[in-house]
Parts: sequence; structure tokens; C-alpha cells
Amino acid sequence: MCGIIGYAGHRPAVPLLIEGLRRLEYRGYDSAGVAYVEAGALRLLRAEGKLGELEKKINGRDVTMATSGIGHTRWATHGVPVERNAHPHKDNSGRLALIHNGIIENYQERKNELLAQGYTFSSETDTEVLVNLIAEGLKETGSILRAMSWAFARVEGAYAVALVSPDEPGVVYAARKSSPLVFGQGLGENFVASDIPAFLPYTREVAFLEDGELVRMDANSWQVFDAATLEPVDKPLHHITWDVQSAQKGGYKHFMLKEIFEQPRVVADCLAGRVDLRAGRVRLPELDGLEPPRRLTIVACGTSYHAGLWGASLIESWARIPVRVEIASEFRYRDLLLDGDDVVLAVSQSGETADTLAGMRRARELGARVLGLCNVVGSTVSREAERVVYTQAGPEISVASTKAMCSQLTVLYLLALHWGAAKGTLPAEVAARALTGVHGLPQVIEAELPRMRERACELARKYASVRSFMYLGRGQSFPLALEGALKLKEISYIHAEGYASGEMKHGPIALIEPDFPTFALALRDPLFPKVKSNLEEVQARDGRIVALTHPGLDLTVDDPWIIPEVWGPLNAFLALPCLQLFAYEMADYLGKDVDQPRNLAKSVTVE
Ligand code: G6P
Repeated sequence: MCGIIGYAGHRPAVPLLIEGLRRLEYRGYDSAGVAYVEAGALRLLRAEGKLGELEKKINGRDVTMATSGIGHTRWATHGVPVERNAHPHKDNSGRLALIHNGIIENYQERKNELLAQGYTFSSETDTEVLVNLIAEGLKETGSILRAMSWAFARVEGAYAVALVSPDEPGVVYAARKSSPLVFGQGLGENFVASDIPAFLPYTREVAFLEDGELVRMDANSWQVFDAATLEPVDKPLHHITWDVQSAQKGGYKHFMLKEIFEQPRVVADCLAGRVDLRAGRVRLPELDGLEPPRRLTIVACGTSYHAGLWGASLIESWARIPVRVEIASEFRYRDLLLDGDDVVLAVSQSGETADTLAGMRRARELGARVLGLCNVVGSTVSREAERVVYTQAGPEISVASTKAMCSQLTVLYLLALHWGAAKGTLPAEVAARALTGVHGLPQVIEAELPRMRERACELARKYASVRSFMYLGRGQSFPLALEGALKLKEISYIHAEGYASGEMKHGPIALIEPDFPTFALALRDPLFPKVKSNLEEVQARDGRIVALTHPGLDLTVDDPWIIPEVWGPLNAFLALPCLQLFAYEMADYLGKDVDQPRNLAKSVTVE
């Protein structure tokens, strides 16, 4: 999983590529590099580490001549993250430079063949194998376009690639299979990139490349081809409505903080056009004509999985649909019992997570219907699902997902109402209460966020020195406990365990001691008395407790964090930002790189 960008136009390419890479750095930041053609020669600049390291190398050089090129920011899959493994990679003749996001699964086989033919390799990457395979194709076919097609026919796996060569100055080739790639059409300039924000300052006209497509572009023209047959393909352009500002920090110290504070708007955007208060119903035109599922399986990873767990209990309760929630990397390899009566809902912010996609494909093979719930328009999940409901949260840049989860909870809530109404299982008064409650939610969150941040700051100062945290919740708060623990470990590197409060006595309670505090979700709900008893068990072992709780509840803990109470399941929308802000303030206090935590990437497009 990496970020790639290609440019052919009239501006100095290198600064533009670097700027584009900065907006793609969330996809990986182990190393970065650019390639361009200057005075008939291929130039490569690469550096280990974040983009700043590459910029240091570029400083002082005159790189303003080239008006086309390619750039890459890497998240290592093959080979350690050092400069020799950084992209772009050249072929042995030095006539081709390639960048790649994905994994060539049969690269070792191809590499052995190339070695036998006398090729040599200076990196451990699968990408260097691919660029030499294209070079071999060039010998066989005589053109770069045909050579790429020739090479793709010989590789298995996933790729989004871009290539430049001094043999065709001013031209960029790009292609994709199972890794994201979008094309952008400007005025006298064209772009390709892993994601739209990379080129959004220059154009809003985009075409989503499909698997098995290849594009050739120069400053003034572009053509998409079927990579296998090389038949030209007509691609419609789509106009992107969101702006660059929404892909920038907007005055906040970190994207994560900005995105946490965007949540009131995210809920409002998610609801826009979908809630008809007067008719007392939800409108999801994306699902028109589709019967509610008889059985539902939610498939997702990471934070999206936690959102799925939360949504499942609402769908069961309001729509009386049996729901199971599956971690995609487990689901995809099981001997699944699915058939035409099953609906699989893939939940994914990026719409590109490899395991989630594989789970969808398995489900479809077995005859299940596949729906998508995702944020990125035109992503693979959205294109492969039979129907897709967008979360409309806007681009999420911070690696740690925040507003995307909030939007997923909102859509799952609407889905539960929608199916409940369709099946007649939801009493009208519950539906009315649910709709008015969610309608007023953005203002409540908005008003509370500053106070939440203050409390998170106070608590972070008090607890930042601990090495472990236990997160406990029951019922609908259990998925939130999992998410709170995930957020903390992702960005502050403090060990955290999310557990069902009632299960804690079956093992984790052994860990409790004064230096292993507990973050409890003790909200007003029917399970509160049970949670309280579980917390007493913690206190009996000298465990310190921070408890997110509601006014007027009988609970004595070291650090109560009292938040306003809203209606039933909507309380999750107020608990979630507290968990996010606590993790954020802990990480920031500890001086961690909040937006780009070590070893993580935003979109995991490999298994
Ligand atoms: C990565 C991200 C997480 C995200 C997960 C699933 O691990 O760091 O924040 O929740 O992938 O991503 P998706 O795009 O499918 O929701």
C-alpha cells in the first residue's frame, strides 16, 4: 500500500509531484521518490523516510525543467524500507522507470526467469521485477504500451503502476488491477494518482480507472485502453464537488483533531436528504426495490469492524434481522455457509481494503448479495457491490479513523430504521423518537466538543505515564470499548485492551493493579447496574478508573467523565468523540506523530 502520482503538463513536474505526494503520505511514508525525463535522460531521486527526506535531497538542484514525471510514497511490502527499495525502480537498460502500489504475487517466479536471462536486480522489490518484465516485453513487442500489456499478462497480484521513459518524453503510462488509481483531466495537463486529493488543486474532472485498464497520457491528450486487448475504452469524466480545503488541516494541529471536530457536520451530511421527519421515515433511494435481508453478515476490518458490531445490535433489535459481524481477513478464508438468502454488507471507509474486498468476492461467488457501505466514491467496494450506500464523510486523512466511524454509525442507524420500517418490526413511536433524536444530534455534539477536549486534556496529563489501559463496555458500549482501545494503541503506542465488562473476570482481571487503569463506559442503559458491579471488581483490586458516564448515575470512580445524555443508542455518538479525544490528547502530550503513527497505513490494500 503506497501512494502514487503521475503528471504530464506544462508546470515544473517535480514540485507538483512532491506536493501531490504530501497529500498521499497517509498511504505510507517509509520512503519516497520521483522520476522524470530531463534532456533525454531518465532521472531518479529517492530517499528513505518521510517526504521531507526526499525534499532535502532535491533542495539546491534545479528540477524545474521537466514537465512530466511520476512520484511515489511507500509503505513497505517487499524489502526493508531503505533507499535501494524505494520507488521508482529502473529496468536494467535504464530506459524505464516504474512506481507501483500493490503486490506482485508471482514475482519470485518471474524474477528467476529474468535472472536466468541475465537480468540483475539491485533491490528486493517485486516492482523491480515488474519493470524488467516490461523491458523484456518491450524487446518482444516494440512499444511501451504493448510491453505493459505483455507484462501484465504474466503477473498475478495487485498493482497500480505509473511509468515514464526517455523514449517517449512527456508521456506517462499508468494501469491498475486491484489497487486504486484515478485519472484527472486538467487544462493542458493530465494526472493519475492513487487518490483524488493528490491533484485536486488542479482539476476536479476525474475518471475512475477499472481493473485491467491502462492509460496513456501526455499534456494534451489521454486514452484509456483495455490492458489485455489494447482496445480503446471510453471513460466518462466525473465532477468532484469537495474542495482542497476539506483535504487540508484547516487550522487544526492535526488532521485527526480536525476530523474529530468535523463529526457534527458529518452526521448532518449523512442525514441530509435521508430523514423525512414529517413522514416519520428514512429515505435510502440507493436501496429502492431491494427487500430487507433475511440474514445479514457485516464484513469489515479495524474501526469499520467496530462500527459493524455496533450497527448489528440495532439492526437485530429494530429490524429483527439476524446479523453476524465478521473480521474480513477471517471471513474470506472460512468454509462459508452462504447462499442466495444471505446479504453481505461490506463496511469500509476507503473502499479499498484488500481483505474486505476479498470477503465480498467470496460472498458473491457463493451466491450472496453484496452491499457496500463506504466513504470513497468510485472506490472498488462501491463499484463491486450490487448497491452502495455512501457515508458522505468527505476525505479522511488521519491514519486513525474517527469521523468515518461516526458516519458509519449514522448510516447503520438509518439502515436499521429503514429495514425495521420495511418489515414492520419497528413501533412507530420508536421510529419517531429515533428520527427526531438523530436530527438534533449534530447540534448536541457540536456544543459538547470543546468541553470534551478540555476533559480529555486533563485526563491525558494525569494518565500519560501509564503503560497499559483496559477499556470496558457492555452491550452497545462494548464495540466502543474496542474502538477506544484501538485508538489509544494506534496513536499513543500505549498498550490497551478492549473487553466486554462481563468477560473481564475470566482472565484480564488478573492484570488489574494501580498502574493498569481502566477506561469504563458506564452510560445510563439497562446494563448499567451490571457494569457498575464489574467496576467494583476492578476497584477491589486497586485499579484506577476513568468512567464515561451520565449525570445522576450512582457511580464512584477516580475520574468520572460526565457527558450529557441523549436518547438510547444515540449516546454512542457522544461517547465516541470522548474516546477519540482521549487517545488524541494522550498521543499529542507524549509527542507522538498523531496523523502518521508508526507501522500503520490508512488504506490496507494488501492481505
Ligand atoms: C486500516 C486503517 C484503519 C481502518 C482499517 C479499515 O487499518 O488504519 O483506520 O479502520 O484499515 O479500513 P477501511 O478503509 O476498510 O474502513
